[in-house]
Amino acid sequence: MENRLEILRNKIDNIILNEKSDHIRMYISHMYGVARFCTLLAMKRNLNVELAATCGMLHDIFYMSGGSSENHAAKGAKQAETILKTMRLYSDDEIKIVTTAISRHRDKTHMHEPYDELLKDADVMDHCLYNTAFPIAQWEMERYRNLLIEFGINETKCVYSYTN
Ligand SMILES: [Fe+2]
Ligand SMILES: [Fe+2]
Repeated sequence: MENRLEILRNKIDNIILNEKSDHIRMYISHMYGVARFCTLLAMKRNLNVELAATCGMLHDIFYMSGGSSENHAAKGAKQAETILKTMRLYSDDEIKIVTTAISRHRDKTHMHEPYDELLKDADVMDHCLYNTAFPIAQWEMERYRNLLIEFGINETKCVYSYTN
């Protein structure tokens, strides 16, 4: 049987590559980066790794497929719902988990359900670990610190390294 995560990836790749955006390198890098961090966090938090990776793959689909970045969480959740329903490989409960996480992923300052938090954290990890010489966004700092603590990493050294 074919692996549905790979079927989904082929579908998303085609949607994004068709756009021929100037930002394609960042889009693909971010999408697969967040999906990998979702997988790692799901392993650490005893959540479903495949569903977690699915959240990561689809979370920015709206702007990566030509939409604007404004309100991309809510609009992307709707778009993801259509994609997943069309595939007929996901249960209603699974689609609800994924689309809820996508709709909430921009709200980094509030706490929601486990998959919502996992996706927000994976998004922050990819932003912050892309190049540790780059400054960390102020609204992502607290989550980044907590993630370093969760992984047993000396957070003070990492968070402030770019300013030294
Ligand atoms: Fe986003
Ligand atoms: Fe993102």
